[in-house]
Amino acid sequence: MLYTDPTPQNVLDYHGNNTLFMVWNFKDDVDVKAAFQRICALVINLNHSADVRFQDDSESCVMGIGHEAWLRLQLPEPLPKELENFAPVAGGKHTAVATRGDLHFHLRSFNNRGICYDMAAAISDVLAPVAVCVEEVHGFRYWDGRSILGFVDGTENPHGEKERAYFGLVGDSDPAYKGGSYLFVQKYIHDLKAFKALSLPEQEAVFGRHKASDVEMPDDVKPKNSHSAVANVGDDFKVIRDNMPFGNMGSNEMGTYFIAYASTFSTLKKMLNKMFIGEPEGNYDRLLDFSTAKTGSLFFVPTLDMLDDFS
Ligand code: HEM
Repeated sequence: MLYTDPTPQNVLDYHGNNTLFMVWNFKDDVDVKAAFQRICALVINLNHSADVRFQDDSESCVMGIGHEAWLRLQLPEPLPKELENFAPVAGGKHTAVATRGDLHFHLRSFNNRGICYDMAAAISDVLAPVAVCVEEVHGFRYWDGRSILGFVDGTENPHGEKERAYFGLVGDSDPAYKGGSYLFVQKYIHDLKAFKALSLPEQEAVFGRHKASDVEMPDDVKPKNSHSAVANVGDDFKVIRDNMPFGNMGSNEMGTYFIAYASTFSTLKKMLNKMFIGEPEGNYDRLLDFSTAKTGSLFFVPTLDMLDDFS
């Protein structure tokens, strides 16, 4: 079905200060259709309700659906053109692992962490009988928008409504899914001890940016294997990154929840290939020497119109 003026889910929102990420996988041998219908209606309900109840805040709930779940739920075919099971990207030293994910939830609130908790609890009430929550990460804004490694994260993102929509939403190349978005996530754990043992110039060389000022190094100074040199695949290929740091002293897990929305998944693949394999091969991203990807899953975020139909 073609929607004339599709309304995206809130994928273009800015980071938020409090974020809760959840991945749910359906149980085997249960009928999941009714719960899925309810969850689609709930996502719409939660967003509308937040608009009315918390007008000074900016909170939202975005749901993405994985490839296997799309097939199991018998959602429309042909599928979104680039929706697939994410395949690992293995370089000589580091690997972007692939892990299963049926439904992904990205819950955000600027001021009130309680809103994220309530949204997660409502989702859990519906899904718990038919699915298992396999990942739950509570992200927080760290100082002036820094990753847990101490560098500002998000500066070179597309800015402004027009640019964000261009790079973040499916366009006319896939008319049936226009206004949708590819959502790719990875949970990274950092070796903070090793990173902190580097001198300031060595840390800055990892990112190709200055730590305190967040100013990018000129191209002729920036190391070829720095994160900003490697992850940049050209001005025509950008994605919207909404990464959030997380930290748990008890389990000693400090990390980055990498999350990106994109008009095409191929753009993200280009970035991953350059980071993990390298161009030329072997010029992998220095950031990976301090970061291990523990998960990796691709989802498709349908428009609100599609969620309404599914419900
Ligand atoms: C290991 C976890 C990661 C951390 C802590 C991290 C952090 C950062 C930081 C601090 C910057 C510089 C400021 C900015 O422009 O945002 C940056 C840039 C960027 N990152 Fe990452 N990142 C991570 C993983 C990834 C991954 C997996 C991708 C893509 C698949 C990616 C894509 C990008 C891109 C495209 C840029 C902008 C490069 C430019 O044009 O200068 N990052 N990241």
